[in-house]
Amino acid sequence: MNQYQIAIDGPAASGKSTVAKLVAKKLGACYVNTGSMYRAVALAALNAGINPASEPDKIAASLASWNIESVPDGEGSTSVVLNGVPIPAAALRTPEVSNAASDVAKIPAVRAYMLELQRACRSLGLIIMEGRDIGTVVLPDATAKFFVTASPEERARRRLAQTGEVAEGATLASVAAEIARRDFQDSHRAIAPLKPAEDAETIVTDGMTPEQVADRIITTFEQKRK
Ligand code: CDP
Repeated sequence: MNQYQIAIDGPAASGKSTVAKLVAKKLGACYVNTGSMYRAVALAALNAGINPASEPDKIAASLASWNIESVPDGEGSTSVVLNGVPIPAAALRTPEVSNAASDVAKIPAVRAYMLELQRACRSLGLIIMEGRDIGTVVLPDATAKFFVTASPEERARRRLAQTGEVAEGATLASVAAEIARRDFQDSHRAIAPLKPAEDAETIVTDGMTPEQVADRIITTFEQKRK
């Protein structure tokens, strides 16, 4: 089994996914988006009429009946399957689900469930795993760790450009506020908060192309793997 892993963490809309996918493509590795797994729990909760912010106990109690799997999609990535049914990517990326994902991500039972699911992805071989706590908690022994970020303005611009991911009539200011609120919640929670691992390389991606960021990640990874 290939024991190499690349961990990429960072705040919302920092461009992590684009870069992680590119790195996976260039290395022939498997890309794993852990945010999608939290989003799947959020969607299951919303579909069940549970309020993710005020009813954490109901979510913890329902977890055993929601079978969430991360399945290789045959194209170098994984897709999330809920109770045997693949969830369309667009259903996971709505603004309602983004906010609910940050709410469910605070629940200890949800994080314990995810830890197991995400660590099991090591069996996929060389993986590029992206999230908030990959370098700090999920894969503390990853070969190379990165904290990919960008200025709040740049991140708001990037998110606003992603059709379907922002509310109708959203503005740069409203998107920036929504991202700031979610990052604050993600950085201040008790378990596995968003923060760079001590041994992570921080990359501020303002003014960089995804290609440049991916190449920098690969250069560091190749050095560390030796
Ligand atoms: O794509 P974007 O950066 O907006 O978000 P995402 O990576 O899909 O993550 C959605 C939410 O899931 C985050 O705001 C976190 O609350 C949570 N999450 C987490 O707690 N830990 C992870 N490893 C990944 C995501």
